[in-house]
Amino acid sequence: MKFNIALLAGDGIGPEVIDQAIKVCDAVAFRFNHQITWKPALTGAAAIDAVGNPYPDETHEICIAADAVLFGAIGHPKYDNDPSAKVRPEQGLLKMRQKLGLFANVRPTFTFPSLIDKSPLKKERIEGTDLVFLRELTGGIYFGKRGREDEGNTAYDTCTYTRAEVERLARKGFEMARQRSKKLCCVDKANVLETSRLWRETVQGLEQDYPDIAVTYEFVDAVAVRVSQWPSTYDVLITENLFGDVLTDEASVISGSMGLMPSASLGEKTSLFEPIHGSYPQAAGKNIANPLATVLSAAMMFETAFGLVEEAAAIREVVNQSLAHGIVTEDLSNGGKSYGTREVGDWLAATI
Ligand code: IPM
Ligand code: MN
Repeated sequence: MKFNIALLAGDGIGPEVIDQAIKVCDAVAFRFNHQITWKPALTGAAAIDAVGNPYPDETHEICIAADAVLFGAIGHPKYDNDPSAKVRPEQGLLKMRQKLGLFANVRPTFTFPSLIDKSPLKKERIEGTDLVFLRELTGGIYFGKRGREDEGNTAYDTCTYTRAEVERLARKGFEMARQRSKKLCCVDKANVLETSRLWRETVQGLEQDYPDIAVTYEFVDAVAVRVSQWPSTYDVLITENLFGDVLTDEASVISGSMGLMPSASLGEKTSLFEPIHGSYPQAAGKNIANPLATVLSAAMMFETAFGLVEEAAAIREVVNQSLAHGIVTEDLSNGGKSYGTREVGDWLAATI
């Protein structure tokens, strides 16, 4: 098959981890006889520096025309410490999610047998964890009306959801649960928030369409506790944008490193694949960032965007081998021998 993949490397360690994913994808293409054309495009702080816009129209055109988007990371400290900055790299990410209609963010959390001791959580608690968050990505407080009143002394951000927005996300959750262990948890704060009551009501209304799925409703504060205490009791969790942002960072700790977990953002147009970690500017250019989350995001891309299950399995297989052989970056080496970002990428590509 032939694919066009938009390549949005972004900022910080983004370009380095993306380079490793390119090597791995090219190796997969060679082995399975596919042809990938990479279409690099600007985003984030790199795009602000070049053209003054963190998600330029030209980048959007490249994404729309592509079969998938592979994304690195965005964010730069020079904007974090400047609350008055008019344009920020993160705005590019939000604009991209909105313009591409990426309403469903799939964020899995699983454990690797060879890394089970790397997690700060007890082995017997996390063994067998294999859960997936479906985070709503284009609504809620991220996109609501916000502003200042009272001469700047009062600030507000509003959270709005429509029934249609909840329903399309929830249906994806039900369908995903059907492919897995048929358990769905709706995470909300329905004891306080009106938007959460709409979520709960909408999901309850859909239950009759999916009689084979066991649905539970849990408050987000309780889920925050149970996800770290008994993560293996969860399967598919659906939740709104901000709750999903927080809970998926929390859950990534289970696997042992933020540098391991991939994600997919699905929607109306081209799907996007990216590691869940950020741009980690302190490590940029040092050849120390863990490329595995991006490489595993590429595996999700082969599977989800192209329907190529064997290719995805080949990538996961070499990632597992690299972990088992200790061909890992310093975040996973426990003070022992570690390899550079590029060396891990080279090993994965060569092994494929
Ligand atoms: C994420 C990030 C983004 C978010 C930021 C960079 C805007 O934290 O993808 O989880 O909050 O969605
Ligand atoms: Mn986040």
